[in-house]
Amino acid sequence: MEDNIRIVRLTQDYHFSSFDCGEGDLNDFLLNDAKNYLKHLLSVTYIIETDQDIVGYFSVSNDRISFEDSDKATWRKIKNIFPHRKHRKDYPAVKIGRLGISKNYQRHNLGSEILYFIKRLFVTNNRTGCCFVTVDALPSAIGFYQHNGFRPLLKEKPVESVTIPMYFDLSTLID
Ligand SMILES: CC(C)(COP(=O)(O)OP(=O)(O)OC[C@H]1O[C@@H](n2cnc3c(N)ncnc32)[C@H](O)[C@@H]1OP(=O)(O)O)[C@@H](O)C(=O)NCCC(=O)NCCS
Repeated sequence: MEDNIRIVRLTQDYHFSSFDCGEGDLNDFLLNDAKNYLKHLLSVTYIIETDQDIVGYFSVSNDRISFEDSDKATWRKIKNIFPHRKHRKDYPAVKIGRLGISKNYQRHNLGSEILYFIKRLFVTNNRTGCCFVTVDALPSAIGFYQHNGFRPLLKEKPVESVTIPMYFDLSTLID
């Protein structure tokens, strides 16, 4: 990430400049909801900024991956990451609830760098166990997540949903 770009944790007194990542719901969440989510401990938001503007943001919350959320073949693959005696019906995870990069900064690898930052954060600095990063990916962002090592939890998009659940295995970052 460039020198003049920093990541700050959202606080109640943060002053927003404008933000547009091209997805109205994601813009609206940052500008109008993120502080309320923080207040109610529903998610923590981090802002990527320069002195001049907001480059992007992401929000994260605790999550889990359970056998009910995936198809059989994927669940078998997930279980096989662990030794047999550690096989369970669910595993702890962190969910990227929202992620957006300003239109002015897209396709400069920043989204990928932020995903790497999140992965490292939950491998090295986490205070509780966390095996996976999860996301409900918009169809337009599936290629981006695949490019960054995320895999679908389901072979097909659920009919009632516009997003596809995906996961990244954090153990791949451990030597
Ligand atoms: C999706 C998003 C976060 C990606 O961030 P970014 O900084 O533009 O992405 P990167 O530059 O790191 O992309 C790396 C690679 O991912 C892939 N990629 C990125 N955006 C993509 C897209 N929209 N469709 C398909 N592949 C994509 C490409 O392979 C890209 O490499 P390339 O530029 O050399 O072709 C950003 O475009 C965005 O905020 N979009 C609008 C909001 C959104 O969809 N958020 C995700 C919600 S689930």
